[in-house]
Amino acid sequence: MKNISFINLDAQRLKLNGAIEAAIQKVIHHGQFIMGPEVREFEIALEKYTGAHYAISCANGTDALSLALMAMDIRPNDVIFVPAFTFAATAEAVALLGAVPYFVDVDEKSFLLDQTSLKRSILDAQTRGLRPRGIIAVDLFGSVPDYETIQIIAKENNLFVIADAAQSIGGARGSKQVGTMADITTTSFFPSKPLGAYGDGGAVLTDNAEIAESIKSLRIHGKGKNKYDNIRIGMNSRLDTLQAAILIEKLKILPEEIEARQKISDYYSERLPKPIKKQDIPITIKSAWAQYTICSTNRDRIRDRLLRKGVPTAVYYPTPLNKLQAYRDYPIDPLGLYISQKLSHLVFSLPMCPYLTQKNQGLICQLLEKACHS
Ligand SMILES: Cc1ncc(COP(=O)(O)O)c(C=O)c1O
Repeated sequence: MKNISFINLDAQRLKLNGAIEAAIQKVIHHGQFIMGPEVREFEIALEKYTGAHYAISCANGTDALSLALMAMDIRPNDVIFVPAFTFAATAEAVALLGAVPYFVDVDEKSFLLDQTSLKRSILDAQTRGLRPRGIIAVDLFGSVPDYETIQIIAKENNLFVIADAAQSIGGARGSKQVGTMADITTTSFFPSKPLGAYGDGGAVLTDNAEIAESIKSLRIHGKGKNKYDNIRIGMNSRLDTLQAAILIEKLKILPEEIEARQKISDYYSERLPKPIKKQDIPITIKSAWAQYTICSTNRDRIRDRLLRKGVPTAVYYPTPLNKLQAYRDYPIDPLGLYISQKLSHLVFSLPMCPYLTQKNQGLICQLLEKACHS
């Protein structure tokens, strides 16, 4: 049997039927590789798609977080609450500015920021005389946290909210699209993301004109009237024109790709073997299905059996951030991070790609059933 791919980017390229190659050719011919016309064209398309007033592209999703924090004037020792069960970049952007990532636990069913843990952690930080400034919630695996409640908690404590939507562009919660639920939303166009480039890329989304203006400045060395009029310390973090040209084409098919991901998720969910639990996605949430993630106490054995039959799986994430060498000295929820720890031992993700054939979906489900019961 031919091995199944975890993600099949070539099937997407073939579906686009030459559009990506043509877009690349066009950029090569006009030669404006930095901040060429496709960059703004893509940003406008992203604004239209998400409903955010401003989309400002940048070099990657990690920089998008840094730019968002810099726009909120984050200073050394400011405290930012982040979930412990996420990719390191969420906390890295905070630590790199000399600020303090404070690790909060996640909910056992949704895998998203736990509000009780968040409230307890804010109170703890205040009691200890630390300087809480903001919250970064993460749209893990494409699902969307309850930003309405998180915003209420934030307002009560004079904090801002950043949505780390690296994995969720195309998702929604109720009538609100990802990109419109927090003070600032950041995203990534890493190739394997639901909207992926052919290299690195990222964007910051906001409805706030002032924040948008400072991010436009920060991404080009803190420019003022022009590049040689530097009014603040910034970064060099622009989206390449080539990547923007590719993303314009890919964004056109994102809605149908998300629908296809939803169908695959439904198919998987209907056939999950009994002992397997999955990330809970309430009916009001439209996940972007960056990953289809399940839990088992026999994870390693099941993964091994699947791999031997040609089905790759992946573990996101094997270690909660507070247990990683780089992050273990930062503060955590005073009651501990039990769920983050537990999930890191149980979770694994099945192949997820809009172009996964029905035959392969069926095969994956059959082999999962066998791997669980033999
Ligand atoms: C939750 C989360 N935040 C931030 C990032 C960083 O994005 P990038 O790799 O584009 O820097 C990622 C990328 O994997 C991510 O999954």
